[in-house]
Amino acid sequence: MQILVLGGNGFVGRAIVEDALAHGAEVASFSRGKSGSPLPAEVTELVGDRETGDYDALRTGEWDAVVDLSGFRTRDVDQAMDVLGDRGGRYVFVSSHAVYVRDLPAGTDENAPRREPMRDAEVLTNDTYGPCKVACEDDVLERYGDRATIVRPGRVTGPGDSSGTALYWIRRGARGGRVALPTKPEAPLQLIDSRDVARLVVQLITDERAGAFNAIGPDSTIAELIEVAADLSHTTVDIVPIPLDAVPPRFPLMDPEAEWGERRRSPAKARAVGMPVTPLRTTVADVLQWDLDRGTPELSLGLTPEQEAQLLAQQ
Ligand SMILES: NC(=O)c1ccc[n+]([C@@H]2O[C@H](COP(=O)([O-])OP(=O)(O)OC[C@H]3O[C@@H](n4cnc5c(N)ncnc54)[C@H](OP(=O)(O)O)[C@@H]3O)[C@@H](O)[C@H]2O)c1
Repeated sequence: MQILVLGGNGFVGRAIVEDALAHGAEVASFSRGKSGSPLPAEVTELVGDRETGDYDALRTGEWDAVVDLSGFRTRDVDQAMDVLGDRGGRYVFVSSHAVYVRDLPAGTDENAPRREPMRDAEVLTNDTYGPCKVACEDDVLERYGDRATIVRPGRVTGPGDSSGTALYWIRRGARGGRVALPTKPEAPLQLIDSRDVARLVVQLITDERAGAFNAIGPDSTIAELIEVAADLSHTTVDIVPIPLDAVPPRFPLMDPEAEWGERRRSPAKARAVGMPVTPLRTTVADVLQWDLDRGTPELSLGLTPEQEAQLLAQQ
């Protein structure tokens, strides 16, 4: 099987490349060549730029499936589909759970209503990212029909997750002591391990499955994430809830309580077709090890220990 991964050197893309190779596929990756660490030598690296419409590297070649991880606006997917035509086989578009309307109750599945599509937005924000992904999904479905597969991940973490979002809390648990938490400890999470997303994507390609699939991890809570990291690091934590408005907006993994239903979506459809469920403890252990191996660089988000101590002193 031959697979072309658009964005194979990124965080999730890398996991897909590794899973595909482990399952005997031949893999090519298309990107600007800026992100991530070097890909395994057996991966064919194709260089181009979706921002400038440079797809020359894709003008020849044939694949059984294309996995699109770098499509964010309709022009991205439209240009890629124009260049690839019928040479790409199945088109797997990696979308997002952000396509769904906000404030849904717990337990919704792939049939939940999506947000209004947005065909273009120069800047991707919380308000434009999801609607732009909706429009991309529509274009891929219209062009590829039964050969289109849509994967909608929730928040992903795992080795290689340099976004820092989950890592802030994992490191915070590992440090131990009093932890300032700007939400309730029972705030729900469904972090998915990047390797589970990868397994799902490669299995969907192998089985030639069409349709949309939520790639959602096991139910947990923010307190569990912190406590698991503490336990793995042989320390303990004392979680101290603080007001959400005491920290900067868009604080890692913090959402208003009205949106908690978005962290209790149903992964049943994807699990039924083979998506594994890596336990949170395994994911956290592997993230901690990966972070240690790369030398625990400073994160550009969250609170510094000094800022946290100040907030805790006010409690
Ligand atoms: N991470 C999550 O929690 C999460 C959750 C839901 C959905 N998703 C979706 O999953 C996909 C991958 O996410 P990720 O976290 O793995 O992102 P990432 O690490 O930032 O990877 C993005 C990939 O796209 C490539 N890329 C970026 N700009 C490009 C351009 N102009 N031309 C060609 N290639 C370009 C990057 O390589 P170069 O920089 O080398 O070009 C990289 O391979 C995205 O579509 C995202 O919406 C992610």
